Amino acid sequence: MTYLMESDSEARRLLEQERSSPSLERLRVTGLRPGAVVLDAGCGPGAITASLVRMVGPEGRVVALDPSEPRLEEAARVLHGMDNVELVCAALPQSGLPASLAQTGLPSDHFDYTWCQYVFEYLRDPETALDELIRVTRPGGKVVVADIDGVGLLNWPFPALLRDGTEKLMRALTEQGLDLNVGRKLYHLFRQHGLRDVRVHLSPFYVVGGRADDAMVADWSLRFDVLKPIGVPALGGEAAYTQFRDAFLEMLRDEETFKYAVVLTTEGTKP
Ligand SMILES: C[S@@+](CC[C@H](N)C(=O)[O-])C[C@H]1O[C@@H](n2cnc3c(N)ncnc32)[C@H](O)[C@@H]1O
Repeated sequence: MTYLMESDSEARRLLEQERSSPSLERLRVTGLRPGAVVLDAGCGPGAITASLVRMVGPEGRVVALDPSEPRLEEAARVLHGMDNVELVCAALPQSGLPASLAQTGLPSDHFDYTWCQYVFEYLRDPETALDELIRVTRPGGKVVVADIDGVGLLNWPFPALLRDGTEKLMRALTEQGLDLNVGRKLYHLFRQHGLRDVRVHLSPFYVVGGRADDAMVADWSLRFDVLKPIGVPALGGEAAYTQFRDAFLEMLRDEETFKYAVVLTTEGTKP
């Protein structure tokens, strides 16, 4: 299974991302409670898993699933010393995979709270993945999927050259199967798949008037490194990509520029 952002620095990028855009409020607002049995689907290097473990407390339990062994190794380091957490190497199923991979292997009707953040944007078949999240959630339990919507374009002033470069990069990513607007699609998807009391919470991925802090610049800088193989041809060569990246990072550091992006967190209850 290919993962668009795979690279040697991916675990570091995700830890930086969580540092610059923490998920805690999204967990609170969707009703995560002490004592809950939780699935973290697509846990990455475990930064949010650690928050989940702390929030459910000693009476709760967290299963953290990811198909990437390097991500799980990093998660084991991040979660070292926490004992109510289990790491599982598996993927949310996608259509076209062999029957042996058609499910995660997790029990049906089990979890009180099933959480999946920044994974659906990469999935070619979100419906099959959502079915699996619903299958493993207990009746009355919650499925919660958090994802981006339109990241990177909402800046002002945003000179035409910078906007043009960003749009080229976004188009190339879309052609590779990344859905940069998946956030807005989840409400409809949840309802189509029979979830009840579907609600959407909007929170900042970032909102910065003026100079972005070092964590946010580091997050974007790593993102540009990882996207280089796609970005260089999209921008028309290495020099053009480097120039675009430097101008974008400069825009993030600019005192006069406003920039924001949102995360849409969709929750629904399994009947
Ligand atoms: C951008 S990271 C998000 C990690 C974490 N949820 C967070 O919020 O930081 C996406 C993760 O999804 C994992 N992933 C990719 N395909 C997946 C699938 N089919 N099922 C579950 N996880 C998947 C990747 O290995 C990666 O760790």
